Amino acid sequence: MSIVVPLPGQEPLAEALASALAARTCAAALRRFPDGESHARLLSPQEIAGCDVVLAATLDRPDEKLVPLALVARACRDAGARRVVLAAPYLAYMRQDCVFSPGEGVASRAFGALLSAIFDGLCTIDPHLHRHASLGEILSIPSRVASASGPIASWIRSEVPSAVVVGPDEEAEQWARSVADLASVPSLVLRKRRLGDRAVEIEAPASLPEGRVPVIVDDILSTGGTLVQVVGALRRAGAPPPVAVAVHAVFAEDPRARLREAGLARLVTCNTIAHETQAIDVVPPLAEAVRDLLSSLSA
Ligand code: R5P
Repeated sequence: MSIVVPLPGQEPLAEALASALAARTCAAALRRFPDGESHARLLSPQEIAGCDVVLAATLDRPDEKLVPLALVARACRDAGARRVVLAAPYLAYMRQDCVFSPGEGVASRAFGALLSAIFDGLCTIDPHLHRHASLGEILSIPSRVASASGPIASWIRSEVPSAVVVGPDEEAEQWARSVADLASVPSLVLRKRRLGDRAVEIEAPASLPEGRVPVIVDDILSTGGTLVQVVGALRRAGAPPPVAVAVHAVFAEDPRARLREAGLARLVTCNTIAHETQAIDVVPPLAEAVRDLLSSLSA
């Protein structure tokens, strides 16, 4: 039997996941001691014994979540959980996937090692796999990757049927092409050069398919710098006001005013991270991945 435990603050995700898995939930509470250390407690620990626990926690702003995550997972084990797996719709640190400057370590590997020490398995949605071919390169526990492509393609079919899907760069090509194929619309991939944490340069496309509305599809919206530049490049190439879809609404800052100024018609995101722009539900593929992981762990 499985039971979903939210990292405190992630109750809506846990409820949605539990309903998709036909599982119960068990709440946890978190507080801080006067010295700043965290304290986690399951509210009905007796319900956990013998269960497979699915800890629901999306991992944007990961540094502040990591210790509470480890404490809640430990509480589940101490309450007799059979296994504890993490359902993290957004997996952080995946963009730090190599040594960019001398003296750094590969942060994605460090983060993966920490999660592998806490959990028996992990499910996520569209992790930023660029220089790592799979999560197996950074995790030593079984994992499953769900995709937002199907739900995004359905949204495009119903909201922007005359779309051309635009990927901002080669890193987004994997999502742009699969979304376009599933939505049966054309796609194109632009070229991006990163100049700094907030600054990127996008090459304007030489031509655009006639009569199509660009729908920019990217995995992560963080500062919005990429999206602002893509919108500008498309408008310079003569495109109508584009629409943008991001899987993970990290929103390190709010770029919506800059996006409007650049000429963006509409911005929507998936519900891997709660945000008011969310319009696309990706809990069903995540639940499917969790189901598959748990059944393979039991086999
Ligand atoms: C990078 O390779 C990703 O696919 C996104 O394009 C990037 O993370 C977006 O970041 P920002 O919103 O800060 O430009």
